[in-house]
Amino acid sequence: MEFIRFSDLCARGEVAGKRVFIRADLNVPMDDSGKITEDTRIRASVACITMALEAGAAVMVTSHLGRPSEGCFSPSDSLAPVAQRLGELLKREVPLVSDWVDGFKLDGRALEPGQLVMLENCRINVGEKKNNESLARKMAELCDIFVHDAFGTAHRAEASTYGIAQFAPVACAGPLLAAEIDAIGKALKNPKRPLVAIVAGSKVSTKLTILKALADNVDQLIVGGGIANTFMLAAGLQIGKSLAEPDLLDEAKAVILSMTARGAAVPIPTDVVTAKEFKSDAKATVKAAADVQGDDMILDIGPQTAQQLAEQLESAGTIVWNGPVGVFEFPAFEAGTKRIAKAIAESDAYSLAGGGDTLAAIAKYGIEKKIDYISTGGGAFLEVLEGKTLPAFEILARRAKA
Ligand code: 3PG
Repeated sequence: MEFIRFSDLCARGEVAGKRVFIRADLNVPMDDSGKITEDTRIRASVACITMALEAGAAVMVTSHLGRPSEGCFSPSDSLAPVAQRLGELLKREVPLVSDWVDGFKLDGRALEPGQLVMLENCRINVGEKKNNESLARKMAELCDIFVHDAFGTAHRAEASTYGIAQFAPVACAGPLLAAEIDAIGKALKNPKRPLVAIVAGSKVSTKLTILKALADNVDQLIVGGGIANTFMLAAGLQIGKSLAEPDLLDEAKAVILSMTARGAAVPIPTDVVTAKEFKSDAKATVKAAADVQGDDMILDIGPQTAQQLAEQLESAGTIVWNGPVGVFEFPAFEAGTKRIAKAIAESDAYSLAGGGDTLAAIAKYGIEKKIDYISTGGGAFLEVLEGKTLPAFEILARRAKA
């Protein structure tokens, strides 16, 4: 998909003196006192902002934070902690501007080249979620160049992500958005084979479209968590009282059949780690998958399965990872996820990972530097895996042709 890249505009000197509006995804987790607990997305936004400033632009950056009610601002919705953290990273003050939609001044003057401001939480603006045209047009009037750099929000068609891109004089992709789509394209379009995907999570229903889309493309589809339990049932195994969705057995069987029909596979665990209750201090028992009892809960893959999967990952050409394979938050049930994480880290394969739990596992095992690309997207990452064209890319491609 072709779109204008902000880096190209900068390289051609087309940004100097221009008003640049960057839509970033700075939606970061905070604790009850408003302290940022994880700042990956803020760090990931620095490249675009620095690029714009170095190119001589007057720079505005905004983001949503949480899901506030439009028109009712409360202090906990404020991007103030984000502006402060961004200021620390950029080593400069980042003024936060409220009430900016109808135009604003900084110290009584229009924003000048070299200056940077953060525009307060864009989801406070009435009409943002529903992509109201008049709101989008007002935002577009604030800038000469709109830069979409919010991959985490690329699956939303809102006024600050979609409408503004329709009406701004120029609409382009920022370096983060471009890098994300390049990384996913590299992993899924012309991958070095074997291509192995790990899709884990509690429910088949929430990832069924992804499983079906990947089943047409990958060589190995490793399933984990509650999804694996449903696939074990589909393969004729007993899973006791483990989390599963028996009503989706036919769907799971169809995925297995379509994979085996083209010589690919969904490896079914041969051994598992079980407990009688879902508790961090529950007794963990390793057993053959065929020996699971009626009162057992499967909370992890067993060592034999982990070893087999690790060997497949070590010889993979490309790995796409979404979801831990067991309850890795409980030490007694983390071995499978830890072994898989280590195998991905040690593999020569091009590796791409995304999703909240996956990022937590990557951080827990300290393998951030050994994954080739870690996506900043949650829902957006999953929708790309589903094979969907995200609204951000659709509108940017359209504007590139206009
Ligand atoms: C996310 O956290 O996945 C993105 O920031 C999108 O947030 P949303 O689901 O509230 O649109």
